[in-house]
Amino acid sequence: MAVLASGMGSNLEVLIGDQRLQIVAVISDRGNAPALAGASAAGIPCSVVGWKGNQSLFTSEICRAAEEQKVEALVLAGFMRILGGEAIHRYPLRIVNVHPSLLPAFPGAHAIEYALAAGVKVTGVTVHFVDEEVDHGPIICQETVEVYPDDDVASLHARIQKVEHVVYPEAVAALAEGRLTVSGRKVLWT
Ligand code: GRF
Repeated sequence: MAVLASGMGSNLEVLIGDQRLQIVAVISDRGNAPALAGASAAGIPCSVVGWKGNQSLFTSEICRAAEEQKVEALVLAGFMRILGGEAIHRYPLRIVNVHPSLLPAFPGAHAIEYALAAGVKVTGVTVHFVDEEVDHGPIICQETVEVYPDDDVASLHARIQKVEHVVYPEAVAALAEGRLTVSGRKVLWT
């Protein structure tokens, strides 16, 4: 699998440390992403594919970088770009993402801010397959996280990430082991 990460890489670190998973490549759109340092330290080949100003060109380069390492699936972990159709077609039901809300509530890059602004009492984590719409593909698993009255973005995100670090490796391992079956919008675990 290749992990695609743009940021800190805390999910990447947990995925690398999971013995069930073979992370053979890390791809980032940002050469200075802290995620890359962790991956390099773990001896995993890293590539940087900068934004090309054009989604299809960018997606082709991501696919090329993934193919160089002969990966079978793409695991998005804080990847802040949207992949185009070429990736979705090359890796059908083989691209997953972790999102910090209970989708379909609060898709997009500001899920935690929107949850706080909406005053919800419960938010959470969603792991889902990636399709051509943002934060939209079939849901693999979800876990709730309580919102406290005094939460701010940082405190809520920290609690959400603790949950991500538990559920994401489980979901990715289930994918790797062929234990996920998709029927329309429903994902069944076996
Ligand atoms: C995670 O909270 C994830 O839900 C969101 O981006 C964040 C990435 O964090 N998509 P990290 O880089 O794995 O620490």
